[in-house]
Amino acid sequence: MGPRVQETHQQGALRKGLPPSPELGDNDLDPLCIIKTIGTGGILSLSPFSAFPLPILGVSLRPGNWRRNEPSDRPCESGPGRLCLHNLFENDIRKSWLVRCHQDFKFKRKNAKNIDLAPMRILAIETSCDDTGAAVLLNGRKILSNVVSSQVSVHQKYGGVVPELASRKHIEMIVPIVNEALERARVTFKQIDGIAVTQGPGLVGSLLIGLSFAKSLAFAARVPFVGVNHIEAHLSAAFLEEKPPKFPFIGLVVSGGHTSVFRVDGFGTFKRVGQTRDDAAGEAFDKVAKLLGLGYPGGPIIDELSMEGNPKAIRFPRASLGKDSFDFSFSGVKTAVVHFVRAHSEPPGGITEEMIRDIVSSFQEAVVDVLVKKTFRAAQHEGLKRVVISGGVAANRLLRQRMGEEALRQRMRVYIPSPIFCTDNAAMVGVVGYEYLKKGVRSPLSLNAFSNLPLR
Ligand code: KG4
Ligand code: ZN
Repeated sequence: MGPRVQETHQQGALRKGLPPSPELGDNDLDPLCIIKTIGTGGILSLSPFSAFPLPILGVSLRPGNWRRNEPSDRPCESGPGRLCLHNLFENDIRKSWLVRCHQDFKFKRKNAKNIDLAPMRILAIETSCDDTGAAVLLNGRKILSNVVSSQVSVHQKYGGVVPELASRKHIEMIVPIVNEALERARVTFKQIDGIAVTQGPGLVGSLLIGLSFAKSLAFAARVPFVGVNHIEAHLSAAFLEEKPPKFPFIGLVVSGGHTSVFRVDGFGTFKRVGQTRDDAAGEAFDKVAKLLGLGYPGGPIIDELSMEGNPKAIRFPRASLGKDSFDFSFSGVKTAVVHFVRAHSEPPGGITEEMIRDIVSSFQEAVVDVLVKKTFRAAQHEGLKRVVISGGVAANRLLRQRMGEEALRQRMRVYIPSPIFCTDNAAMVGVVGYEYLKKGVRSPLSLNAFSNLPLR
């Protein structure tokens, strides 16, 4: 049989009536790329992204650089009956490019001038708390879709997240949200190369919905999946931005469940430098808002109200916990607010609206003050010039502003993801999932969810 001319992924997609994949630019090339070869040439390989041998979907060369697939006499290292990649690239290939078909097809970017990557599409799922999130990412960076369904309206009347209601809502939303993410990304389920899902920490009932769903999808589609730590996902949200940070950096995760500072040397390489000894910062925001009858979640409400308040009206305490400590404590400032409110609640004056604005503004000032000081001190202590902040509270306007100002003062760089990537979302889970899947990390279908899952 004569050789067949290869078709591009786009052409193949069109022929099969699938939506075309997005155009790939040079920036979409992964530095350590994984080549998927096309099935039409008879190449079957164990792609590193596949848990099972797959007839491969992708195409590796740009149009115009296509080579006919002429089998050479050279014995193929990949085993009998398989055509090796080097047949396809015979004319282009340098020695160092020779790879074995059944191993990871990894090319250094500098060697990959003429090679277009078959896009790696990760479906990511996040259900750790009260947001059902699904996203599709291309090569771990480019967001093809990022859908979040908030449960605020469900929990609002209780003034906080009710775990049982949260998991029920996740059950309701997981299918439509994942479908919407695929639709918006204009990819079919068959075009997904791997699945990433939050494994913990979080509410275990909520986590289990996303995890079980991801496992079922992975099993049905025969693609690998990997469990992701929610904290690592927050720490990696900054990689979704146009100018991502370089390693190493100091990372502050400041959310409703966590307030910790890490030294981050790479994906999967962390050292915790400090953490809260009691409440998380977001929890303190939520509790103060509840105390003042402002609604839920408290963070964004206090953020908004504080704009009209006087941050210097009341001097709330800042817990330092010692000169050399990078730990936090927010229960003191919260209790101070409680005492202040009690002391001023009695008639004739009572707590006026103006006082509420001053209270929340002064409270926010105290919290932000400590977060900024400790994070930058941790950076100095570790000898690092880059600071990354993330988590729901990183959406706070005053915190973002102060972090920027302090970075300027200290000649450091601060990386703050857009607010939508600070609060819980699946795109950040996809960033981490891609990194692990790329390295060959796989989770077993027996993977469990954990409410407490420390970063190792
Ligand atoms: O990261 P996230 O969405 O969920 C957790 O992992 O906890 O963070 C939610 C927390 C809530 O406590 C919420 O009040 C707080 O982040 N938050 C804010 C702001 N937006 C959300 N806190 C202060 N200012 C904000 N603008
Ligand atoms: Zn979170």
